Amino acid sequence: MPHIVETIPQAIKIAVLGAAGGIGQSLSLLLKTQLRSTSHVHLALYDVNADGVNGVAVDLSHVDTPVTVSAHSPQTNGMMECLAGADLVLIPAGVPRKPGMTRDDLFAINAKIVTSLADSVAQHCDLGRTFVLVISNPVNSLVPAFVERLAQRVPEGIDASRRVLGVTNLDVIRASAFLHELAIAAHYKPRDNEMPRVPVVGGHSGETIVPLFSLADQAFPLTKDQLQQLVHRVQYGGDEVVQAKNGAGSATLSMAHAAFKCAQGFVALLGGEQEEYQGTYYVSLLDRVGQPIGAGAGKLLALVDGCSYFAVPVSVTVGGGIRDVDYKVVQAMSEYERTSMLPLCFAKLKNGIQAGRDAS
Ligand code: NAI
Repeated sequence: MPHIVETIPQAIKIAVLGAAGGIGQSLSLLLKTQLRSTSHVHLALYDVNADGVNGVAVDLSHVDTPVTVSAHSPQTNGMMECLAGADLVLIPAGVPRKPGMTRDDLFAINAKIVTSLADSVAQHCDLGRTFVLVISNPVNSLVPAFVERLAQRVPEGIDASRRVLGVTNLDVIRASAFLHELAIAAHYKPRDNEMPRVPVVGGHSGETIVPLFSLADQAFPLTKDQLQQLVHRVQYGGDEVVQAKNGAGSATLSMAHAAFKCAQGFVALLGGEQEEYQGTYYVSLLDRVGQPIGAGAGKLLALVDGCSYFAVPVSVTVGGGIRDVDYKVVQAMSEYERTSMLPLCFAKLKNGIQAGRDAS
């Protein structure tokens, strides 16, 4: 006898904006095939490339996992259908880098795309419950642009700064992968064959990326030179991919993996499997009325020279959004990291934040 099908008590809707692109396709595949949840999950895929997104959705819908999939595009007024009721909105929409470009070179075109998506989110999402993860570059500027555009569009009482998070997890993943690679090359076996974990704070571009190897959860006896090379590699790791792809784009597969891990954390939170979720994101440290987001943000602001957006471990709840940030990781960094790396980060980050604000 077949089981009687139960009605769906709770569903989580994930919208991917830019789903036909390099990141969007790989990320959607991971969400369709690898996501674990006790709740039903629906993937709503949107792209301005209608044929592209239809193809991706039909292709994925043949995979035998419980996640359901739909395609949306401007041709069918699909933005409203895509965003209505979305719990999590993932945004990899925009143009990627080509060799010789910095992330800031993408700013003009991607700021237009992302602020228009902020208008759509303000119009169609309930920001009392929706989380938005911004992947498009330059993250340092596009998150302030998105947050501040949303703040202009949503009613008072809704705090967009607590619901929008910039995805910097690829930097965390690169720090872990590169440290592991070096340790293996030097014949050190990681503990229990586990990947070492390294906090990375600051922003998501060049010297604004501050990997804290002094706080890695596994220490290897590396020379000062090796450590400096590791820091540089994490800061400019994206260039390795851009050069290797030689004009065909930037990181897509590693980025999809990084964003998938973020999405999995949010799905566990949204599905009630955990009450609080912690992860590293680039977020506003100030709420809508200019007060620090939690006691930790108040302390962090004094440590980061007043940068009002910063990548740092954050704790998030469904109802309250970003509840607090972990300032202790910044307080605990080594003297070298504090005096040699942080000042370079601050100056560039502040420029990036201002550019984003101006574009909102
Ligand atoms: P891609 O060009 O392959 O895909 C972008 C997709 O966005 C395309 O399918 C395009 O049709 C779509 N799109 C453009 N405008 C749109 C709009 N208004 N609404 C919906 N969709 C729209 O680019 P890729 O490689 O997927 O990269 C996407 C973005 O992610 C780039 O800005 C890139 O720099 C960024 N990125 C971010 C990383 C991070 O660590 N946060 C790492 C790697 C890339």
